[in-house]
Amino acid sequence: MRDLREFVRAIEDRGQLERVPGADLDLEIGGVSSLARQDALDTALLFEDIEGTRPGARVLTNAVDTPLQVTLALGHEPTNDIREAVVAQKERAAEMETRPVETVDDGPVLENVQRGGEVDLTEFAAPTWHAHDGGPYIGTGDVVITEHAEEDDRNAGTYRVQVHGPKTATLNIRPGRDGDRHRQSYFERGEPFPAVVSLGHQPDLFMAANQRFPAHVDELEYVSAQRDRPLETVEGEATGLPFPARSELVIEGTVHPDAEEITEGPFGEWTGYYGAGETQQRPFEIDRIYHRNDPIVLAYNNVPMTATAMSTIRSGAQLWHQLEDAGITGIDEVTTIFPGIWFQVVSIEQQYAGHSTQVGMQAMSLPSGVWEGRITIVVDEDVDVYDLAEVLWATVSRCDPAEDLTVIENCVSSRINPRMSPEQTASGDHTKSRMLLDATKPYHWKGEFPEDTRIDPELEAELRTAYAELLSTGE
Ligand SMILES: Cc1cc2nc3c(=O)[nH]c(=O)nc-3n(C[C@H](O)[C@H](O)[C@H](O)COP(=O)(O)O)c2cc1C
Repeated sequence: MRDLREFVRAIEDRGQLERVPGADLDLEIGGVSSLARQDALDTALLFEDIEGTRPGARVLTNAVDTPLQVTLALGHEPTNDIREAVVAQKERAAEMETRPVETVDDGPVLENVQRGGEVDLTEFAAPTWHAHDGGPYIGTGDVVITEHAEEDDRNAGTYRVQVHGPKTATLNIRPGRDGDRHRQSYFERGEPFPAVVSLGHQPDLFMAANQRFPAHVDELEYVSAQRDRPLETVEGEATGLPFPARSELVIEGTVHPDAEEITEGPFGEWTGYYGAGETQQRPFEIDRIYHRNDPIVLAYNNVPMTATAMSTIRSGAQLWHQLEDAGITGIDEVTTIFPGIWFQVVSIEQQYAGHSTQVGMQAMSLPSGVWEGRITIVVDEDVDVYDLAEVLWATVSRCDPAEDLTVIENCVSSRINPRMSPEQTASGDHTKSRMLLDATKPYHWKGEFPEDTRIDPELEAELRTAYAELLSTGE
């Protein structure tokens, strides 16, 4: 699949897209998308005929929320089974291959080009997502492409983009990101920092842009390798930076090192809170806007208490891969509950005394498990890690807090941790504690642990068939 339109067609053909006409940018698109996610609808929402935008401007939400959508985007065998999707992605987690992009002269993104006085970002679909957001955000599923001022080093990252005016936006690039390194490399020379931002693209590019890769990996080249076909790019007129020739909408411009700062945020974060509040940032001044006819903005809306298939598949697959790569055996399944990696659950076939503690400690300290994680639960292989009720049942029945609870202090955290006190946030000591709950049967008397009363799977299948009118068939 080469672009967002092909992706939209693919999910629509499979019944996973709903077209929604006439919604308002102010809290309505965000609200409907959040409620649809809470209701676990399996359709992406394509908002059309949006109030207050130029004719044809559209926005796509909830598009990487089901296993089918994610496997289609990533080029896996399409499946609606979360387990199959995680396993498929785990096989790929080790691959870091790249393939050069192909520079072309023309592409659909050049159908319309705004220059000089024509530039007007406010015409496009920039929703205000949450009630206390600092303004409209056009970039939530975006790809910000930057280069180092001196080194041969290109990056694509997802950093949210707030609209401040027709030619003004902010790129919320946090310290430590590759984009931040690039920005610093220009600012140290006293030069403006150039960037292009793709706002609508095949979601595999979005997913690559917000996946943690080693710094040297160019996400555009990674996607080319994953697709087994070079990503076609065109060069920006103002900066020379490349962007996908089949993007829906691209903004191009610079951040000046001496520009006066403006207020960015607050913004409703993946944590379900308003994160770091307002920050002061130098504006991104837009020189060009390139767009296809009727451009679609790919959006990604954070909703408290719900995880998307994108986050579950990627974080589970990566952590699982890294656990195995660390030489740990006996891993049965790995998942994360809620967005991000706040709540990890790993099931294992216990193989030796201390195995469960080792797995839990690794899960919370490996690169893909370390950021903002809070609770790690290790269960036996007979517990379904995707069934929260089963995980909680195992936790209350197999875990004795005095023996099985371990708290680790001084773990990695960040300003967006809602539980960090204002004093600690201001001090710069951005750490927190983490909890490991060993909910496995104690290894040394596992054989004597009382048998549980769950119905045998064979009998269950028989009964469900025999009593199909009364019971769900599990399909
Ligand atoms: C939906 C979404 C929004 C994000 N927004 C931001 C953001 O505003 N600023 C930021 O620094 N990172 C943000 N991230 C995280 C980065 O995209 C992620 O850490 C990525 O790996 C950074 O890439 P880099 O290390 O190549 O810079 C976001 C991630 C997602 C999934």
